[in-house]
Amino acid sequence: MASQHDKHDSHASGHGHGGSHGHGHGHEHGFNADSLRNNDLLYADVYRHAIDWLAIPANGSVMEAGCGAGGFTQLLVDSIAPAGGMVTAFDESAEMIAATRELIERGAHAASVSYQQGDIGALPFEPGSFDLVWSSRTIHHLSDQLAAVKGLAGTLRPGGKLALREGSIRTRFLPDDIGLGAPGLEDRLDVAFHRWFSSNVREGGVRYPYGWTHMLAEAGLTDVTARTFMLEALPPFTDVQISYMGRHLRRWVENDDRKAYLDAGDADILTELTTPASEHYAFKRPDLYLHEMVTIFVGTAT
Ligand SMILES: C[S@@+](CC[C@H](N)C(=O)[O-])C[C@H]1O[C@@H](n2cnc3c(N)ncnc32)[C@H](O)[C@@H]1O
Repeated sequence: MASQHDKHDSHASGHGHGGSHGHGHGHEHGFNADSLRNNDLLYADVYRHAIDWLAIPANGSVMEAGCGAGGFTQLLVDSIAPAGGMVTAFDESAEMIAATRELIERGAHAASVSYQQGDIGALPFEPGSFDLVWSSRTIHHLSDQLAAVKGLAGTLRPGGKLALREGSIRTRFLPDDIGLGAPGLEDRLDVAFHRWFSSNVREGGVRYPYGWTHMLAEAGLTDVTARTFMLEALPPFTDVQISYMGRHLRRWVENDDRKAYLDAGDADILTELTTPASEHYAFKRPDLYLHEMVTIFVGTAT
């Protein structure tokens, strides 16, 4: 169970081979609605600021590509449905569509949401359908990222925005020197992450050796910009924050495919940090400080 969670702590396993656009990385590849839902709760305050910044037109029409467990969909609905806005939740995974629907139907404005299961690589929407398309941490999983972004851009109305939550400075919560091994464990995990991701997830996909701003411009969008919102938390942490940080470490010891990218010494340290009975269990420390950048890249259709 826990190893399954790992596979998607924002970075699912899977193998980006397949269709010309995105090959599916849905349920069968290990995305897990519970951990995605926990992530949605973790970022909710940050996301509310991001939605304000995106300034969606009153009465607007929004599509979320790769809606996952639906927490962001709910925030979109809260923001625009009272003024008549409409939200389309799109995901290739039936499990994710069901999780999103279940969440939305618990709240007000369920009638403002429609659901569509499908592949970003073969979008079922007319050109000019949306004022905003939002896609968080989905495009980087696809085997042809640029083709996917071009497809999403093609569904925008003139003046509509494509907003991607993608690559930013990664999560940090440990001190630089935790007293075990060499200082800089989280930096080494970042390096291991890149090596694991490019071998296990992106292998076989079309490489896109440019930044997200370039991709949006290459998709024909203008006024390309980006803004970073900060997630920051100190103890006492909420259960949501502890769950997130715990998964963030455990995935390195519970998944052999990831563990292979660690030095043996670091693998042992991560076992200590994630074992509640250990004197080195991370959550016995009083000095954790959770911070993460949430960057949103935006381009506008002409
Ligand atoms: C890492 S999750 C991100 C979920 C959510 N947006 C978030 O930020 O937590 C990626 C999501 O994209 C969906 N997905 C992956 N490939 C897809 C594709 N080719 N077409 C549509 N959805 C896809 C997955 O089912 C999953 O729900």
